[in-house]
Amino acid sequence: MSDPFGIDILTLFPGFFRGPLRESILGRGRESGAADIRVTDIRDFARDRHRKTDDSPYGGGAGMVMKPGPLVRALEYASEATPTAPRILLTPQGDPLDQSRVESLAGGDGVILACGRYEGVDQRVRDGWIDQEISIGDFVLSGGEPAALVLVDAIVRLLPGVLGNRSSLDEESFSDGRLEYPHYTRPRNFRGREVPDVLLSGDHGRIAEWRREQALERTKERRPDLLEDEEQDE
Ligand code: ADE
Repeated sequence: MSDPFGIDILTLFPGFFRGPLRESILGRGRESGAADIRVTDIRDFARDRHRKTDDSPYGGGAGMVMKPGPLVRALEYASEATPTAPRILLTPQGDPLDQSRVESLAGGDGVILACGRYEGVDQRVRDGWIDQEISIGDFVLSGGEPAALVLVDAIVRLLPGVLGNRSSLDEESFSDGRLEYPHYTRPRNFRGREVPDVLLSGDHGRIAEWRREQALERTKERRPDLLEDEEQDE
């Protein structure tokens, strides 16, 4: 079996990850040995008596800024274990996360995720010790922790051996730049709503064609931007 994919999470709130990392796909990723997820408390790298990790901004202004020292030492510590893993800062100012970025990260050697807090992170850390900045959407979270969890989930489910049914990965939303087709299961009639006849026909060619059409319709209706991206790719 190949080495587990190393995921280092650097945070001021390690307790945030305790529950989620035990549950569901993330738990399975850990137990199966596909992912090795380590959560590191940035505060352990503070050197003063009060274990201070933030300070007031030069130039004045509201709020606090994460000090460079503890975060940089935590990043360097994580890089010792996985020197080739990209160091990623979760921030609303980062590149918007999408499935192709997730796939490219999952295909690499691991990731080191730094969760920002307070009003921001000292710019020198970003300039000197961060390889990528990623945002999970145009909204502001209270910190990078929920964003890191989203990214970890999206990566771990792609690692070999984590999901039972690999072919479901090829059919899911975004895998070919389209949203997924609608799904149905028993009963055939649920409170007056019928399953489309074609799905009961047993004709696999027609079913595949119907699904393709439905996926395209849904994408046109809900996310026309995905189809425009496709045209620009050509
Ligand atoms: N930290 C705060 N908001 C965020 C977002 N939208 N994405 C990533 N990290 C964040």
